[in-house]
Amino acid sequence: MNVYGIIGWPVSHSLSPAMHNAAFKALGVKALYGLFPTPPEALKEAVSGLRALGIRGVSVTIPHKEKILPLLDELDEVALRIGAVNTVVNREGRLYGANTDWLGVYQALSERISLKGKVVVVVGAGGAARAAIFALKEAGAEVLIYNRTLERAEKLARAFGARAFPLEAISRAEGDVLLQTTSVGLKEDRSPVPEEVLSRFKVVMDMVYQPLETRLLREARQAGCETIDGLTMLVYQGGEQFRLWTGLEPPLDLMRQAAEKELEEQKDGKF
Ligand code: ATR
Repeated sequence: MNVYGIIGWPVSHSLSPAMHNAAFKALGVKALYGLFPTPPEALKEAVSGLRALGIRGVSVTIPHKEKILPLLDELDEVALRIGAVNTVVNREGRLYGANTDWLGVYQALSERISLKGKVVVVVGAGGAARAAIFALKEAGAEVLIYNRTLERAEKLARAFGARAFPLEAISRAEGDVLLQTTSVGLKEDRSPVPEEVLSRFKVVMDMVYQPLETRLLREARQAGCETIDGLTMLVYQGGEQFRLWTGLEPPLDLMRQAAEKELEEQKDGKF
């Protein structure tokens, strides 16, 4: 039985165990995916533990995505450019770090709209925005970053060839796609984007997936935009992790169903 899991702090609400265990079961892979809650001060020991115990792979989440880089043996070139690892593969004792977050964003958007030459407004400039902006630039989009702290947006803009604006200027923003990467709207009925701005966009995507339809997505739908929820990206990045670990085609529909079911159960307090 191969063991996989997720290291982060906290991890108790992660949808990844449901998603990956459903995929393992469906494809007859003898493997288990569990939670490895890892406080910040224990990261180094936890990484040594992966080697010692022969854990075959882990997902890496907040707050370890950046700090784990120097602890690994080998890094994927893209993970290095983004500066974040969300996937570790144990290759005969050598730990290889990759990033599938950017692919999650890329796939979620590309199946709805061709990004080449399009203007994409990104709200937020934190860790989640980094992988997203990398994906957008890879796809040939023009990227405008709006953030509460302008300096952070400017730093990201310099790193990836984008333009930076303060969040207050969002009322004048326009483009083809709007991508929300902050935590605003998570378990609350709030949106960082005024409603009247939304009709200027064709596609609106939110990285928040709790609730599945955030206030931003509800208002975007009412304004006639196409909407993409945060679970879409989560499932695609998970699918790419599954592919890296097993070499198999990920059963994406099934993974989505499992993640949605887990989300529902957590909402009902049954965990
Ligand atoms: P993550 O890794 O999840 O992206 P992060 O690096 O802490 O987390 O970034 C959080 C992002 O959400 C930032 O863009 C942050 O804005 P600041 O750079 O100004 O801190 C944004 N954010 C968080 N709470 C916000 C709020 N109430 N209003 C606007 N932006 C907010």
